[in-house]
Amino acid sequence: MSNEIVYLDHAATSPVAPSIAEGLARDLVELGWNTGTRYTLGLTARKALDGCRAEMAQRLGCAAEALVFTSGGTESNNLGLHICCHQFPQGGVLWNSATTHPSLSGPVGALDPTWQIIPMPLMAWGAIDVTQLQLLPPPDVVVLEWVNNEAGFVQPVDAVADAALALNPKACVLADGAQGVGKLPLPNLASTAAFSLAGHKIGAPVGTGALVLKPSLKQAPLTLGGGQERGWRPGTVALPLIRAFCSALQQMTSHEAHAFAFDHFDDDEVPLPIRHPDGLYSPCITVLNVAPVEGEVLQHHMEEKGIYLGTGSACSASRKGLSPIHKALGMDARQSRCTVRWSTIPGQDRDELERAWRELVLCWRELKRFF
Ligand SMILES: Cc1ncc(COP(=O)(O)O)c(C=O)c1O
Repeated sequence: MSNEIVYLDHAATSPVAPSIAEGLARDLVELGWNTGTRYTLGLTARKALDGCRAEMAQRLGCAAEALVFTSGGTESNNLGLHICCHQFPQGGVLWNSATTHPSLSGPVGALDPTWQIIPMPLMAWGAIDVTQLQLLPPPDVVVLEWVNNEAGFVQPVDAVADAALALNPKACVLADGAQGVGKLPLPNLASTAAFSLAGHKIGAPVGTGALVLKPSLKQAPLTLGGGQERGWRPGTVALPLIRAFCSALQQMTSHEAHAFAFDHFDDDEVPLPIRHPDGLYSPCITVLNVAPVEGEVLQHHMEEKGIYLGTGSACSASRKGLSPIHKALGMDARQSRCTVRWSTIPGQDRDELERAWRELVLCWRELKRFF
């Protein structure tokens, strides 16, 4: 195996950059104090926490008080849904995106029967068809992802929120921003009641996340405890991790994300990105149609060359059968199996991407003969 790894599965998780790991190691020793204590060390820690909150809020375009730190995207999504639904104790109508990550589709599926779950109509490439939304019953809660983790399409969060709020100004919109933050210009967080972030998708350590909450919401923590994070998410604050999260967001937003071209570098056939001409996609996630080769076979052959690609969603890897997202895109089981997911981060080295693409095409041409 080659020594030089090209990592193309950032949608699964993005490794912590050495500079952030060094800062984290230092903070664990030098800033590992409880932010709730009253002596100087605790006050120093508290000041550092406030600094991170202000810095991150500024980058996200929200008020510092709106930002609640969590352990990751899954917790943020579960907490966000819990809070949004709690605003309507009698239950109500929930507009749902059929293509959300399991950390949203799971808790939505587990809501009690006082909630009427209505799937929002989709366009051919998976995004919500906003033109159809006014035909639905007015929503109380709306749940959607911003950037789809498996297919990379971008949901029109602003337009969906506008449509929902036009029908019910009290509606709570929950958007999962895990795959978009640090990579695309943000939607208008003033229209969302809750917006989730996952630190490890932008090179922060696993175990970091946040939820941007509309300040006027009635409080509804999922766990009870010492009142940290103004009671929304109790538990001793993981300051060194939060500082690393803040640094990762700073680093990530200092680069612009560019879509990779997937050129035909000669006249021969190459695997094609699955992209609808009218669709809007993240430059960081591309699904490639590698038929007739099975994605997993290609993945393992690429691994031999030190190139790491994804297939579908890492979070659904244990689930058998067709992914609900590929199903919503109209793929059958075979089409779904014959894909790989190429996912990058802003600022990733262009030369390594070119090398990986060249190797992928060569490998695919070799393997094609056996399928
Ligand atoms: C869109 C999306 N939401 C939520 C999550 C869950 O985040 P975490 O792994 O931090 O719990 C992921 C992770 O894959 C994701 O892609």
